[in-house]
Amino acid sequence: MKKIAIFASGNGSNAEHISRYFFQKDSAEVHLILTNNPNAGVLARAEDLNISAVVFNREEFSGSDKINDLLLAAEIDFIVLAGFLWLVPLNILRAFRNKIVNIHPALLPKYGGKGMYGSRVHEAVIASGDSKSGITIHYVNEKYDDGQIIFQAEVAVKPTDTADRLAAKIHELEHAYFPVVIEEVVEKL
Ligand code: GRF
Repeated sequence: MKKIAIFASGNGSNAEHISRYFFQKDSAEVHLILTNNPNAGVLARAEDLNISAVVFNREEFSGSDKINDLLLAAEIDFIVLAGFLWLVPLNILRAFRNKIVNIHPALLPKYGGKGMYGSRVHEAVIASGDSKSGITIHYVNEKYDDGQIIFQAEVAVKPTDTADRLAAKIHELEHAYFPVVIEEVVEKL
């Protein structure tokens, strides 16, 4: 049974979908949920799911080995970023090479990079007049939204779509595909 750790900074709907998906699987389980945000909705979800949660600050995450050591001590096999807003530091990237994936709510390489998160992404897509958006699941490296792409799925952007409406459609795609893609990648470890 592979052990997955999920990092999330906010609401955590993806973290919950992924956790529940693996409740029914023998291949892997979500062992730990970690957040930089003590007020993140993901913490209440972790409690409901009965999954251990860890809150950390910047020093613990990227100024020391504290979180890396915690991941190694917990024998984590794979890391998922699901709405996590900080860059992953080199010590964790080295310890988990090709074992960290992120989801981005647009079709990378468009609409990615520093500052492109949350509703800003959907507002930029709508302002551009693009007729489609989607999700991108990719490996994580030392830059924002830059690692090798594993999977993309598209959704039409309608002229009547607001950023909120587009975000809701994207969330549906994320919930449908992210757990399955994680399973496929973890199976190959
Ligand atoms: C998702 O849209 C994800 O693509 C982005 O942040 C959002 C997180 O949503 N990186 P949630 O916290 O999982 O509900």
